[in-house]
Amino acid sequence: MKSFSHSRRHFLKQASGAAISVSAGMSVGSRALSAFAQTKLLAESSKPARIYIDSRRTIAPLDRNLFGSFLEHLGRAIYDGIYDPGSKLSDSNGFRKDVLDQIRQLGVPIIRYPGGNFVSGYNWLDGVGPKRNRPRVLDKAWNSIESNQFGTNEFMQWCKAAGTLPLMGLNLGTGTPEEAAALVEYCNVEKGTKWSDLRRQHGFSEPYKVQHWCLGTEMDGPWQIGHMSATEYGYKAADAARQMRAVDPSLKLVACGSSGPGMPAYLEWDREVLEQCYEYVDGLSLHRYFANNQHETGGDSAKFLALNLSMERQIAETLAVCDMVRGHKRSPKKLWLSFDEWNVWYRATDGDGHRTEAPRLLEEIYNLEDALLVGGLINTLIRNADRVKIACLAQLVNVIAPIMTDADGLFRQTIFYPYSWALQYARGAVLNLLVESTGYAVPGLENVPYLDVAGTLDQNGGTATLFILNRDLSRAQRVELQWQDRSPAKVVASWLLTGDDLKASNGFASPQRVVPQPLAMPAAKGSRTEFELPARTYAAIQWSMA
Ligand code: AHR
Repeated sequence: MKSFSHSRRHFLKQASGAAISVSAGMSVGSRALSAFAQTKLLAESSKPARIYIDSRRTIAPLDRNLFGSFLEHLGRAIYDGIYDPGSKLSDSNGFRKDVLDQIRQLGVPIIRYPGGNFVSGYNWLDGVGPKRNRPRVLDKAWNSIESNQFGTNEFMQWCKAAGTLPLMGLNLGTGTPEEAAALVEYCNVEKGTKWSDLRRQHGFSEPYKVQHWCLGTEMDGPWQIGHMSATEYGYKAADAARQMRAVDPSLKLVACGSSGPGMPAYLEWDREVLEQCYEYVDGLSLHRYFANNQHETGGDSAKFLALNLSMERQIAETLAVCDMVRGHKRSPKKLWLSFDEWNVWYRATDGDGHRTEAPRLLEEIYNLEDALLVGGLINTLIRNADRVKIACLAQLVNVIAPIMTDADGLFRQTIFYPYSWALQYARGAVLNLLVESTGYAVPGLENVPYLDVAGTLDQNGGTATLFILNRDLSRAQRVELQWQDRSPAKVVASWLLTGDDLKASNGFASPQRVVPQPLAMPAAKGSRTEFELPARTYAAIQWSMA
């Protein structure tokens, strides 16, 4: 039997034809950049690229939830990944201590759970109460056996240990709005009601006060258990939202948007859904996975490194739909976006677990060019922080993930590093930069700038940070920073990820093949800083401000 999810990528490929993911997604080129990053494309010249930084010009405060992640009951993400009671590396709860350390160090603010496709067939009641009584269930999304030894309470405990917050996914596939509201009651009501008392009976007296909830997932996809039409889903989401808010009015609710530009009803789905539930939700979800394969880029790395511009376009188009529905409804409320699944993913796509527990599924190994694009995608998210309030790198451990485990330890994939820099250095408000860069033509695309830049300014900490992708595959770029109103006092951190081999990756045998290197940064001369950024590089540079 094929699992439901097995066919997701297959469906997208067929539905989109060769054209959609790259051509429609990519024809934005300079337009998207001029709209969002104020990038001016220079004619080929001997002048350096210029970045103008003005601390008076910011776009929006940066919500830390922009750098969230995702853990699904899928493959070895939960079992063997974060929860492994038999392991010498686990604590008394069965939580892998080495994995917890990494996640704590990263400072991941929010984690979506328990799915993904898994959630659309999940009965949350199977995963609570005494472990010995929990059923072994056939998970139809991934054709795997779910032991239910890790469930809602274990996740809440784990979040506490990891220093993160839950973004709870709800089953709006086989699940009902009533069951969704019951889970809210189980999690958030202190006592004296059926479901809150059940939680207490299970040994957890304090409510968890979970704020953020996703109303289903990818319900537009024929691979999704319980797949339905946009109007049906919109009604169901509105009903669930009303029932959930009756339990806890303080919730922040995310409606399920289109699964991406490759879907036949892309944007139309979002419009119809929002027509039914706009007034009951706070945000709308987007998902996207990028590939450097025949279908999306023809295997052309220069094209691949420009794909974050396609994410930029997806954000703009989805916001246009949100705001159009807002106009129809004369609503004072402006929705925000939750980009709650994004990553590179195209190699390990077999999602059939052959009815085993914790099978090795979607264990993608990432290379240098994947990490460079992940850097570009982070830049896009930062630049759109005025409307994108949550985003989740999908996923976190073992399954299309920055952290990989085995029985003896873990290693960091290439994509770990740009993600960790965003978490560590992107603070405060997003800078409204002006960038001047030369660009390159990619067949079928408009000109793509070599430099892709995002920046933040932390007035409290007194720091400014730039994140720069140099898409030039063969040449270093000379970069001149023009500090418009305040000059930096000194460089406090300066890292780059680069290498000669775009296909180089890390593994258990070679965990240090692609790792950050220090970038030599000269001090500012008055209001100017000049430096060279090597070819094929993603860099994070932080200054303390005078
Ligand atoms: O993240 C892997 C899968 O990709 C998720 O379960 C699903 O939502 C998406 O199709």
